[in-house]
Amino acid sequence: MDIVYFSPTGNTAHLAQHLARTLQSRQIPANLHPLEWTEPGDLDPDGHLVLMYAVHAFNPPRTVIHFVRKLIPDEARTVSILSVGGAETWMNAGASLSVRRILQKKGFLIQQDELLAMPPTILIGLPDHQAQEMISKAEDQILHVASRIQSGQRTAIDVPLKSRIVTFLGRLEGLGARLYGLELRASDACTACRLCVEECPERNIRMDDAARPAFGLRCLMCMRCIYNCPEDAIAPRFSKFVPLKDGYQIDRLLHDE
Ligand SMILES: Cc1cc2nc3c(=O)[nH]c(=O)nc-3n(C[C@H](O)[C@H](O)[C@H](O)COP(=O)(O)O)c2cc1C
Ligand code: SF4
Ligand code: SF4
Repeated sequence: MDIVYFSPTGNTAHLAQHLARTLQSRQIPANLHPLEWTEPGDLDPDGHLVLMYAVHAFNPPRTVIHFVRKLIPDEARTVSILSVGGAETWMNAGASLSVRRILQKKGFLIQQDELLAMPPTILIGLPDHQAQEMISKAEDQILHVASRIQSGQRTAIDVPLKSRIVTFLGRLEGLGARLYGLELRASDACTACRLCVEECPERNIRMDDAARPAFGLRCLMCMRCIYNCPEDAIAPRFSKFVPLKDGYQIDRLLHDE
């Protein structure tokens, strides 16, 4: 079985690792693949595929859509989709619609379609104890997901009209996200370590002639470069309210428990 996950800021990666460990403890081999560094040919063509991703603007991020479009059509293959948002809300109910549509057109059978919630990574950060409660709840849900993978039980999400409208409107955020790259700049604290260049999931960052990161028009607004910079050197020029003031590190929340 392959677990392919897209996790700009670590929440989905944590749940993907939790799922892999749980399956392995039940003698089900599960291989983890970070989506942005994976090609469809790297996956086992006969195994169950679990696709996990962070929800961005009530939808899968663009990187996920591009990956799913590249998958080779397969009428015998089963897929489970786990969307990981920042809140349990009806507004996220359509977060798998677009990947579901592509997968079904390619002949894949959707086994599970689940929505999970982990601490939000933009706009409003939660107090640590609430964030830790959310993580524990999501980890519990992963145990149920693992049991359903074992038993082959199918699940689906009911998507009411109001959620479909929000999902549709959320797609417009894609353009705003691209422009967000133009908003980003690195301060004099930058040491030109290139970490942001190497880790940007959309390869949207290059070093300019002055050995400073320059941001292009492929941004996802995913926050990875901002939160991961060891010097805290990257910030938006104007929309300073979008990233969390003290950054976001899931490892800190896990270790403080
Ligand atoms: C650009 C952006 C848009 C987001 N939009 C949503 C959203 O529509 N609904 C939601 O519940 N969470 C939203 N979030 C929060 C993340 O989905 C959530 O915190 C998720 O757990 C992050 O996963 P990751 O750490 O694996 O990237 C958004 C985060 C970002 C960066
Ligand atoms: S990660 Fe930070 S310090 Fe390293 S190159 Fe990027 S901005 Fe500079
Ligand atoms: S430039 Fe930064 S925010 Fe934009 S996609 Fe790359 S890592 Fe994410």
